[in-house]
Amino acid sequence: MTTSPSPAPRWIRWPEGDRSPRLGYGADYNPEQWPREVWAEDVRLMREAGVNIVSLAIFSWARLQPTKDTWDFGWLDEVMELLHEGGIAVDLATATASPPPWLTALHPEILPVTRTGETLWPGARQHWRPTSPVFRSHALRLVEELAARYGRHPALAAWHVSNELGCHNVYDYSDDAAGAFRLWLRDRYQTLDALNHAWGTSFWSQHYSAWEQILPPRLAASHPNPTQQLDFKRFSSDALRDHLCAEREVLRRITPEVPVTTNFMVMGETKGMDYASWAEDVDFVSNDHYVHPGPQALDELSFSANLVSGIAAHRPWYLMEHSTSAVNWQPVNRAKLPGELARDSLLHVGHGADVVAFFQWRQSAAGAEKYHSAMVPHAGADSEVFRAVTALGRTLAALAPVAGSTRRPARAAIVFDWDSWWASEHDSHPTELLRYRQEALDWYSAFLALGVRADVVPARADLSGYDLLVTPVLHVVPAELAKRLTDFVEGGGHLVATYFSGIVDENDHVHLGGYPGALRSLLGIRVEEFAPLPEDASVRLDNGCTGTLWTEAVTVTDPSVLILAGYSDGPQAGRAAITHRRVGPGTAAYVSTRLGAAQLPEVLAPLLAAAGLDSELPAQARGRVDLAVREDDGAEYWFLTNRTAEPIDLSGLSGLDGEPLAASWPMEDDAAAHLAPRGVLVLRRPK
Ligand code: GAL
Repeated sequence: MTTSPSPAPRWIRWPEGDRSPRLGYGADYNPEQWPREVWAEDVRLMREAGVNIVSLAIFSWARLQPTKDTWDFGWLDEVMELLHEGGIAVDLATATASPPPWLTALHPEILPVTRTGETLWPGARQHWRPTSPVFRSHALRLVEELAARYGRHPALAAWHVSNELGCHNVYDYSDDAAGAFRLWLRDRYQTLDALNHAWGTSFWSQHYSAWEQILPPRLAASHPNPTQQLDFKRFSSDALRDHLCAEREVLRRITPEVPVTTNFMVMGETKGMDYASWAEDVDFVSNDHYVHPGPQALDELSFSANLVSGIAAHRPWYLMEHSTSAVNWQPVNRAKLPGELARDSLLHVGHGADVVAFFQWRQSAAGAEKYHSAMVPHAGADSEVFRAVTALGRTLAALAPVAGSTRRPARAAIVFDWDSWWASEHDSHPTELLRYRQEALDWYSAFLALGVRADVVPARADLSGYDLLVTPVLHVVPAELAKRLTDFVEGGGHLVATYFSGIVDENDHVHLGGYPGALRSLLGIRVEEFAPLPEDASVRLDNGCTGTLWTEAVTVTDPSVLILAGYSDGPQAGRAAITHRRVGPGTAAYVSTRLGAAQLPEVLAPLLAAAGLDSELPAQARGRVDLAVREDDGAEYWFLTNRTAEPIDLSGLSGLDGEPLAASWPMEDDAAAHLAPRGVLVLRRPK
């Protein structure tokens, strides 16, 4: 990996002469889709909406470099000037996200290859191999040109490397990928012996006698080697990081003073990129988020925003994309209801976003995304969407004092781990039905239901400051992580672990002697066999709950263990299902089945009580309000989001003595006493 020392965290460079604190507001701006006449109107409407930053030139490579040896920067010069005159800052893309047709015609060897050996042809976007040296050299040439031309432009606020790295091309099985994978493996293992051991190649006659024999896990006759699969996932995430760093190095060389970012995709089931490891590669973290419909849609938004904050070590981050209304890539694309646009945006701000931006500024008239909403819809500025957009602009302006504040960590956290996500969902496992992120989200929903703030943090974060940790399906537990969790509990922390946790080490080798392996003695239990359930089966617990997906034969091995619930039917009837143990000043609990979002609050509530954690919300608001708190030296900011379509009375809220800084609905004098349906209220309390 190409690295240069990480400078101190840096943020957007707002234009000279006006560096007052502000929240950013804007969109992806794609002026090349429109005739020149529209550009001036764009800037006028941006000003009307309160837009102060746009991401520009994301998919402009074919327009900037029409052939291998010709460049056309005239139009971009003009747009940069127009934006600058309009007081709008630019997050300028390096434009390398989608290679132009001349490049793929000249060098088809840059095209990615799927697991089954098919080429991903041009015609859509992001058809490039992360490890292609040919692609890399053309991309870096473009980056160099852009950095040299616009590096001193007064509108330039940040560099935006590529776009959503890995969105469509994270897994490439080409020969380039094979070569780069071998180099990555050499670096990780040094010797073939070490690799053979890690991959357990004594099984199925897989022993390697030369590096050249190793391949990506291409379509095989049966289950590919699991550690090969896990390493290929790690490698593929790192290969994209390597591309990010290569572009960043060019930018830092030419414009060391300009911060560099790229938009992550912490959302839904996008799982190919281990963003916790990417955070150190950028000057500030940016994220894209789209709401996935379903009963936990809003919980998922909050969960994702919260995890981005965890990745960003609670420093402010940039919400680079979300949607004003419908997207175009779901089976049915729902328009947002009144109030949802502002609610979704401000929920991100509560969780640490200092910029709110959308895909995209003006809804396309042509192309694959013409039915994707935008800030200026097909209907034009005389529309409900644009009115909601300008109203949000005013709210964000009122929230300027929040800019630069950090998110206040909660006392509880859910630990999120990409290795565990990847490995727990592999084939050839006890069940194919396990969904790692869903289990983590269900626990988050339980915290929301109880009105107790919880962080979502990567496993590599410092966990020691929390009072309570939930580790859903923490499947991969290397010795170092086991020690941190043990120290946490022995130091007085409260741990809640679930089924299929602690099972393997970093090489995906089972911790022997009984499950849950690395956590066995900490939890004071031992499991000899897993007993997963078929899709439509369930078992009853003697606390009234119903378990699905997973059960197992839990034996209590330590006299300090209390059985909080047992199985009352099924093969485990009479055995422990949920256990709890005192360990010095701390405790360690274990949940051996899947309970789901609706039942987990019942299990979580007493565990929180035992840890001394309570809700900061009045009883009538619990489960109905999402509370996030930001703070700076002088004040704390309470973001109260109404998760329902009904008004909510806030009386009894301890933070109510704060000054109402802004609300997402027209505030009246008593605004702070209630939350409008889908409304967000921000209260400022001096410290
Ligand atoms: C993102 C992408 C944007 C746009 C958007 C639509 O994946 O970065 O360019 O495609 O999704 O939701």
